[in-house]
Amino acid sequence: MYEFVRIKPSVKRPARSLKTHLMAAYLDNNATTALDESVLDAMLPHMGQVTGNPSSVHRFGRMQKDAIEQARESVAQLVGARAEQVVFTSGGTESNNLLLNGFCKKLARQQACGRIAVSAVEHMSILEPAQQLHLHEGSITVDEIAVDKMGNVSLQSLIQAYTEQTSLISIMSANNETGVIQNLSSLIDFANERGCYFHSDASQAAGKIPLDFIGSGMHAMTLSAHKLYGPIGIGALILDKRLPIEKLQFGGPQEKGIRAGTENVPAIVGFGKAAEMAKQDLQSRDVHVRTLRDALEKGLNRISAVSIFAQTAERLPNTVQFGVDGFDGETLLMQLDRKAIAVSSGSACTSGKTEPSHVLKAMKVPVTLANSAIRVSLGKNNTMSDVDALLSALNDIIEVNRRSAVMMAASVC
Ligand SMILES: Cc1ncc(COP(=O)(O)O)c(C=O)c1O
Repeated sequence: MYEFVRIKPSVKRPARSLKTHLMAAYLDNNATTALDESVLDAMLPHMGQVTGNPSSVHRFGRMQKDAIEQARESVAQLVGARAEQVVFTSGGTESNNLLLNGFCKKLARQQACGRIAVSAVEHMSILEPAQQLHLHEGSITVDEIAVDKMGNVSLQSLIQAYTEQTSLISIMSANNETGVIQNLSSLIDFANERGCYFHSDASQAAGKIPLDFIGSGMHAMTLSAHKLYGPIGIGALILDKRLPIEKLQFGGPQEKGIRAGTENVPAIVGFGKAAEMAKQDLQSRDVHVRTLRDALEKGLNRISAVSIFAQTAERLPNTVQFGVDGFDGETLLMQLDRKAIAVSSGSACTSGKTEPSHVLKAMKVPVTLANSAIRVSLGKNNTMSDVDALLSALNDIIEVNRRSAVMMAASVC
């Protein structure tokens, strides 16, 4: 009889701590997190010892299929969904594209004109496909939902963007730059009362705050594994079957016919393990990163040139975004990198010109301050010494800059 045997990884590998390898403080966990050792352990057998296409009916195929279904259950449990609602994709970007394009394709097939509303602070993987639909699908109109100075979507601003033709609303659970958590319940109620579908990109929220897909009343949710110590290149679209959607990829019947293609079994298994650990450690990870974040903010508040964005808003426990008066964020990022501190800036350098982040723009942060933005995102592997190193490096850079400004002023006189 076929039996699932627990396979131990056979590959011997060196310790993979980023810190020991690079002797650096990695403070960019919203960009990606280090793959957890236990996640890698769960994945390795499926990258070597265990073979088989999950669609094959023989024991090898069934073993892979079982592993996928176990992971599906773990991912569903992390976000309060049912396993059958989980569609595995290649990540948050694909999930967001599948949701918007798949929904609008269904509308087009039904020859319905559609309006969708998305918040102004969404990730580009929502904003760009929405823009493409607006520009190239004549029957689709996209309305932008404004945010307030704290980056929050209020019911009032949703009401302003909503029209009777609006059939889908997409508002993220938590912002990747500022960490601002949206209070979605009244927004979802508003959508449900009008028969409008609601999607939330929870790529940054999952594994950091509790989520309840079914209890929330929303119809779709985006997840990405590499934001919660899982592998890069795997994510999920959680779908309530009430939401009409057309597939965008054609081929096999995988993922209930919504996403054709042989499943990436090791990555799915890794996602499942990461989700299981995130659920189990949600509270302890929260306490850990919150303690570091609070200490960091205490230090930042002592630096007069620093302004923390959305400091009084409800935010993810691991994220701080701030501007440093008189600095350019990209330059500051590189100066910090030279001191072995890895953070992210809030601006994008396009054609040699620094553009402030669309998130800070939507929050009406003055352009020069927005251009000086730095995002610090803490993770479970960070320690207080990383926070101290960042604060010390930042103070040094600001002091050197102040001294050279004084010298420049003296030489001009
Ligand atoms: C809010 C949000 N949505 C979507 C994505 C895209 O996820 P992925 O990298 O898995 O494509 C990201 C990644 O930074 C994100 O922060």
